[in-house]
Amino acid sequence: TKIGVVGVPFDKGQPRIGVANGPNAIRKAGLVDKLRNILNSRSKHQGGRLREHHVRAQQRNRKKVPNMREYAHVACCNCELSKKVEQIIREGQICLTLGGDHSIGIGTVDGHIKAKNKDVCILWIDAHADLNTNKTSTTGNVHGMPMALLASELADYWPYLPGMDWQQPVVSIRNVAYIGLRSVDSYERLVIDKLGITAFGMGEVEDYGISTVVNMALEKIDPERERSIHVSFDIDALDALEAPSTGTCVRGGLTLREGVHAMEMVHRTGRLGALDLVEVNPSIGTEQDVKRTIEAAIHVIQAAFGHSRKGLSPGNPTLP
Ligand code: ARG
Ligand code: MN
Ligand code: MN
Repeated sequence: TKIGVVGVPFDKGQPRIGVANGPNAIRKAGLVDKLRNILNSRSKHQGGRLREHHVRAQQRNRKKVPNMREYAHVACCNCELSKKVEQIIREGQICLTLGGDHSIGIGTVDGHIKAKNKDVCILWIDAHADLNTNKTSTTGNVHGMPMALLASELADYWPYLPGMDWQQPVVSIRNVAYIGLRSVDSYERLVIDKLGITAFGMGEVEDYGISTVVNMALEKIDPERERSIHVSFDIDALDALEAPSTGTCVRGGLTLREGVHAMEMVHRTGRLGALDLVEVNPSIGTEQDVKRTIEAAIHVIQAAFGHSRKGLSPGNPTLP
């Protein structure tokens, strides 16, 4: 396994300061060493390598779009991010992107799809659907819009977006499944119903359990079990008790165990192509809150890359 880690200190998709420090805070807590440990636990011939990257894009124009705050920044950052993600995946690495707010999902999914020629399915694990257009959003925050920009079925509902020509809405919403929803705006609900989007809210997690929900989601979006899987994990999918340091936390969410279990299942498919871990904001809450949130994020990431709660044998399996 090769892993490419991209830090994206971007916060312009939402109004609260601090979320740009997410990547640094997660790294400081030892993420890279933990991922290297996982790679080292694999047998020598399987190999393992981890590389670190950053995307820090400057705004290059002042174009404006109605009801899309900081539009030009979002467009520029995602343009750079898409290229970086595409390059990493083309080199055969699994791309881990650390946000930043969830508007960066525009660039990560776009890059993944370009690298894999569309053969991508998406698990959007989030309290929110992030499915607003600039006409339906009540906030103007672009972190509530990435799925609507990516979905081909919604292309006609957008005005011309200057500086976003690199981004084609190429994912069919049929290849997307939500897990963890519990704060869905009314027009988002309308779109989910109209287009028949696969969406497992917290009610379904209670009815079926996380294991069945993940299996049903993957069955819907990847029935042939051949696609590259993109997991966009918004830390606010987790319950506010597990991940309090995030800008739009909602109570009644996934336990850390459910989040980790879902990621273990994705790992076992062997088809994880890219993982986004977004919306960790180290400026929200007490020191304890921040620590808990970052630890939760790291557990989720480790599970996706093959950490086992049962323990991992050493790479060289002989007792000293
Ligand atoms: N639906 C709300 C909005 O459009 C909240 C979106 C929250 N998104 C997120 N990535 N945390 O503003
Ligand atoms: Mn969210
Ligand atoms: Mn989100």
